[in-house]
Amino acid sequence: MLQFVRVPNSEVHQWGTLLYQVQNLKPQAVGYWSLSEIESEIKNSTSNLCLEMLDQKIEGFIFYTQSSLGNENVVLIEIRHWAVKSKGRGRGTQFFKEFLKHFESFSHKSIEFNLEVSSKNPAAIRLYQKLGFVQVGQRKAYYKDGSDAYLFRKN
Ligand SMILES: CC(C)(COP(=O)(O)OP(=O)(O)OC[C@H]1O[C@@H](n2cnc3c(N)ncnc32)[C@H](O)[C@@H]1OP(=O)(O)O)[C@@H](O)C(=O)NCCC(=O)NCCS
Repeated sequence: MLQFVRVPNSEVHQWGTLLYQVQNLKPQAVGYWSLSEIESEIKNSTSNLCLEMLDQKIEGFIFYTQSSLGNENVVLIEIRHWAVKSKGRGRGTQFFKEFLKHFESFSHKSIEFNLEVSSKNPAAIRLYQKLGFVQVGQRKAYYKDGSDAYLFRKN
């Protein structure tokens, strides 16, 4: 079940620590964000936070921005970072599908989703392709580990 939250400034560290644990990755792992990156994302006033709740616990989270670029009929969603706790068990697919569906229910508006993913992240790439994203660009050696960034879009 999706839950959208706004974190008060006084709780940034508490939420950062919680989401860092949900991310459940070692520092060298693909898709890893440090605690301070997660905390700055929480503090970023243009970033929104969506949680996937399972048995009243946080199973996953998505940071995203939402804008319209001056066109009231279009909603642009940029996924900035996301993760699920239990990986490789279909949880990411289920969560992401629910997230897309939530925005697609604004049927009178056209929705465009954008994101970047490392070329070394096969689970995420597979998931995006499966859910109808197409690759629209590539940034060579974009990440610290030398991997390329693939730009994916769905509309
Ligand atoms: C990316 C992430 C959210 C995907 O969620 P997940 O629950 O692990 O993924 P799923 O189990 O739903 O699997 C998605 C697809 O990838 C495949 N897959 C899963 N792990 C894989 C791996 N290590 N290598 C190749 N394919 C893999 C699955 O088989 C599935 O494809 P299928 O339905 O055709 O069988 C999750 O792995 C995660 O939290 N990663 C760390 C953070 C991250 O990378 N975020 C994305 C940044 S762009």
